[in-house]
Amino acid sequence: MCGIVGYIGRLDAAPLLLEGLSRLEHRGYDSAGVAVLAPSGLKVARRAGRVRDLQEAMPRRFGGRAGIGHTRWATHGPATDANAHPHVDATGRVAVVHNGILDNAAALRAELTADGVELASDTDTEVVAHLIGRSGAETLEEKVAEALARIDGTYGLAVVHADVPDRIVVARHGSPLIIGVGDHEMHVASDLAALVRYTTTVAHLEDGEIATVTAAGFTTYRADLTHAPRAATEVDVDPSSYDVDGDDHMHRELLDQPAAAERVLRGRLDERFGTAHLGGLNLEPRETRAIRRVKVLGCGSAFYVGQMGASLVEELARIPADAEAASEFRYRNPVIEPDTLYVAVSQSGETIDTLLAVQEIRRKGGRVVGLVNVVGSAIAREVDGGIYLHAGPEVAVASTKALTTMYLGFVLLALQLGRVRDLSVAEGKRLVAGLQALPGLVQQVLDDSDALVDVAHRLAAADSLFFVGRVRGYPVAREGAQKFKEVTYRHAEAYPTSELKHGPLALVSPDVPTVAIVPADELTERNVAALHEISARGGPLVVVTHAEVDLGELERGACTRIDVPRSERELDPILMTIPLQLLALHAATHLGLDVDKPRNLAKSVTVE
Ligand code: AGP
Repeated sequence: MCGIVGYIGRLDAAPLLLEGLSRLEHRGYDSAGVAVLAPSGLKVARRAGRVRDLQEAMPRRFGGRAGIGHTRWATHGPATDANAHPHVDATGRVAVVHNGILDNAAALRAELTADGVELASDTDTEVVAHLIGRSGAETLEEKVAEALARIDGTYGLAVVHADVPDRIVVARHGSPLIIGVGDHEMHVASDLAALVRYTTTVAHLEDGEIATVTAAGFTTYRADLTHAPRAATEVDVDPSSYDVDGDDHMHRELLDQPAAAERVLRGRLDERFGTAHLGGLNLEPRETRAIRRVKVLGCGSAFYVGQMGASLVEELARIPADAEAASEFRYRNPVIEPDTLYVAVSQSGETIDTLLAVQEIRRKGGRVVGLVNVVGSAIAREVDGGIYLHAGPEVAVASTKALTTMYLGFVLLALQLGRVRDLSVAEGKRLVAGLQALPGLVQQVLDDSDALVDVAHRLAAADSLFFVGRVRGYPVAREGAQKFKEVTYRHAEAYPTSELKHGPLALVSPDVPTVAIVPADELTERNVAALHEISARGGPLVVVTHAEVDLGELERGACTRIDVPRSERELDPILMTIPLQLLALHAATHLGLDVDKPRNLAKSVTVE
């Protein structure tokens, strides 16, 4: 949520800052701005709208070899030019960009106003610029440290001051801040994506740290400005994999799923023993046998995949398992059990609610592993072990390929846990074979998807929809509803199919379609019976199912079936989720909406 960039070196800063911002725009896209230390003083340009709007509005002469930039997702105050970052102090000599939320901003705003300061925005960030600008401390680092001592909340921030144009001062508490080391030039960013094109030698600031960044290098300090030496290290990433230029990200990411599935499985399947090898979990067989419970934590779609994954772990490894929204977890003061394996799931590895849940577990002595996509992200660095998902960069706000790889991560986890416990070698081999065939089946679903376009257009016409499924199909329905509402802005609600008659059926009508997940399994008959109850009330149906499922009379009415290929039953959630992603994409495109940057949302949710 929000993106920060900074540059200091030999080159003109503004074009580099704008380029970095365009790479972070998926993180927040309601306004953007840059501040450059020009020879004549501090220059600031900011604007509501996208980075390209800022670029068009920038004055031609904006020269300077150091500067900071920001792309915003509004927390305090609407998306206006005045609320866009960077924020400046009353003298116009200090500029600040900030990610996170300051909890005591209201009190500080009141204090500054009472002192005669005229606040120019509704934001929490502006107070930081004023606190720094008004500080009587000698150095910029001291001014920043003094200001930070007055604020509560989370921040990743970057500060420039016209009086010391040879440096950018950065600080972190709860929001990521990375320093990239170049050749007589340095970069600053909230996300590797913004700087990996220039350097892969980076240092991650830790919470509570401050750093001075000059063209020649960087120095890190603790909050009290005592030295906290930190070396930059090489990150093992392919910079070209961050080249995510152009549009159409959701569509491209959706189509990348067969390859992403191959990547997450590569080198992790053991055909001989019918198991998976996940060395990164750091779990010895003896420790695995001692696990009495598995608790999965994630937010939004990662939570829904966590639900799918938990039921899989329970089924294959016969360990009681459940999933909980990470955003709620720590607020109920959970009991952390020593024989529970906690699993944190996150594409970005930055979601603050998931990160705080991880920290709560570790603080209480629990063991937590991660299923994370972004290498070196905060959650990946915080957990006791984990599985990287290798989905590749995911830019579209609506997650697709990351979810497929998360689910496959759970299959691998369940397989490894199961095979150390009571899952037979024959069952393990059955699943390994199923996994090997899966990328091909995912490709088949994508190749056969033309007929979905019409169905999506019909669904786009409805103001309100139900998504239903049972047991393994219920989190699939939840994810389907989530995807649909995220990008189409239609009201889409998910229920267990069995719950409809306990209330929601009252809303079923010819104007309210239901998308139902009906795999060929032990619940098919019960599912079809429930669909009759919907059909009898005039509710149109879209049924995601297998070819052998007989929908009988239903097909004579307002019912469209979408058949997906058969696989092992444990893999149905993936093959049944993909048509739901396509329905959401085509419906939103039909409605003329920007599927990559849906309103009110951002890719990584780094504020509570
Ligand atoms: C997915 O389509 C959503 N944009 C959202 O629910 C997302 O899954 C959630 O915010 C968690 O993100 P994470 O995987 O990066 O932690």
